[in-house]
Amino acid sequence: MTPIELLLDRASCKTYTTQPLLEDEVRLILQAGQAAPSGRNRQPTAFLAVTDPEIRRTLSRLNAEVLHTDADPFYQAPAVFAVLADPAVSTYLYDGSLAAGQMLLAASALGLGSCWIHRAKEVFATDQGKAILEKAGLPLDYEGIGFVIAGHPAQQPAVKAKTSRVGYLK
Ligand SMILES: Cc1cc2nc3c(=O)[nH]c(=O)nc-3n(C[C@H](O)[C@H](O)[C@H](O)COP(=O)(O)O)c2cc1C
Repeated sequence: MTPIELLLDRASCKTYTTQPLLEDEVRLILQAGQAAPSGRNRQPTAFLAVTDPEIRRTLSRLNAEVLHTDADPFYQAPAVFAVLADPAVSTYLYDGSLAAGQMLLAASALGLGSCWIHRAKEVFATDQGKAILEKAGLPLDYEGIGFVIAGHPAQQPAVKAKTSRVGYLK
């Protein structure tokens, strides 16, 4: 698949097998986030990768609590990434979102399924969320931008029709 086909074919995956990611795959997805452009190259982002089942469970529970549900918001994906960014930097939200987008595409490039999962802001505002950041050596005052889950699809997701408006002035 060409790079352009790869990004046009991306679709959010919401069913995963239990097969774990390889260490190299985890590192490449992190690198793809780090490689994203940022306003004035300030790189106000921080990246967390979690494959540890217990920490993954804690993040899942904290996320589910925001939704008032018992279901796993991470769809049993074996790897959960979080993008955080420094809210003191004016472009932090754009920078963090772009990095997460690159991580989704990196997962596709590796033949993996992936999906953005919301509520990182609320999760990392909690004491338990901050304890996880501390354990990983990440800044505690960064805001959660989004989670990226990744794994091997149990079912290939279908690409959805895209209907956002486009203007093209020639
Ligand atoms: C900002 C943002 C938040 C999202 N949050 C969730 C989420 O919490 N749970 C979920 O299942 N999917 C979430 N998604 C994935 C969207 O549901 C998905 O991107 C959308 O339905 C379009 O489908 P596609 O990614 O296959 O094109 C989120 C996507 C974005 C960009």
